[in-house]
Amino acid sequence: MSPRPIILDCDPGQDDAMAILLALASGEEIDLLGITTVAGNVPLELTQTNARKICELAGRTDMPVFAGCSRPILRKLVTAEYVHGKTGLDGTDLPAPTMPLQETHSVDFIVDTVMARPEGAVTLCPIGPLTNVALAMVKRPEIIPRLQEIVLMGGAMAEGNTTPAAEFNIYVDPHAARVVFESGVPITMLGLDVTHQALVTEERLAAIRDLDTPVTNAVVGLLDFFNRYDRERYAIPGAPLHDPCVIAYLLKPELFDGRDCHVAVETESELTMGATLVDWWGLHGKGTTARVINAVDADGFFSLLTERLARL
Ligand code: BDR
Ligand code: CA
Repeated sequence: MSPRPIILDCDPGQDDAMAILLALASGEEIDLLGITTVAGNVPLELTQTNARKICELAGRTDMPVFAGCSRPILRKLVTAEYVHGKTGLDGTDLPAPTMPLQETHSVDFIVDTVMARPEGAVTLCPIGPLTNVALAMVKRPEIIPRLQEIVLMGGAMAEGNTTPAAEFNIYVDPHAARVVFESGVPITMLGLDVTHQALVTEERLAAIRDLDTPVTNAVVGLLDFFNRYDRERYAIPGAPLHDPCVIAYLLKPELFDGRDCHVAVETESELTMGATLVDWWGLHGKGTTARVINAVDADGFFSLLTERLARL
């Protein structure tokens, strides 16, 4: 089978960096057409720089990286330096990138790529706030029926991680999330219910440390730093490695389990802003809008990640 064409829309972020590396290491299965960046974990200037730093770390200076929206549609940008550090990639000191940033805006790259490829060819993989994806849909609604699928990290059935009700990516731009969840595109949602099962434990980190390559040494620095906040906040043995779950799902869907549900996004109530209301039991009888993933074989996920990182 030929590799599946995807666009990775991200806001690196240590866990976004792992998603980029996992995709770059999996060229047999994934045709990464480009990396689009958005403001989220840190401001856009840093996310686009960080995406290029990670491509360079992997020796992939040929990978087109685009800058997108610098703020959410309606709300003020909320960032997460308390998780990712001031740079977004704290924990390692990667050199300033030499590869160029593409001149095209992320939104235009998404639109142009989806329109240029055959119908049903492109999968979007957003792992940050959904601003770029929503604006691409608003700018050129013709892309909506042309997408194969959206596989995203965001949302939660249970409690949030930014407010008691909301997960970060959806909280930052709930209006964008609503555009995407109401678009009718088949969505697979990997939210906190599943990513909080994929913990960077000492044992899993040691397996990556043992590889001892320039890439994995940088990865260990990043993950060591990334572990700090969540360990303390949730009293768990390691941080949830959210974003690479999306790429792992494309590579090995058999590692995951979930259910087709209706998902609605809260955009009215300040108290529960950005909550994803997952109708797990079909109580509203509204049909399904997303496949909601709620389980992962975490050891299988980390074996896959470790095996792929060794290839870089
Ligand atoms: C999500 O928020 C960000 O901090 C991470 O990169 C991930 O995409 C988890 O809630
Ligand atoms: Ca992210």
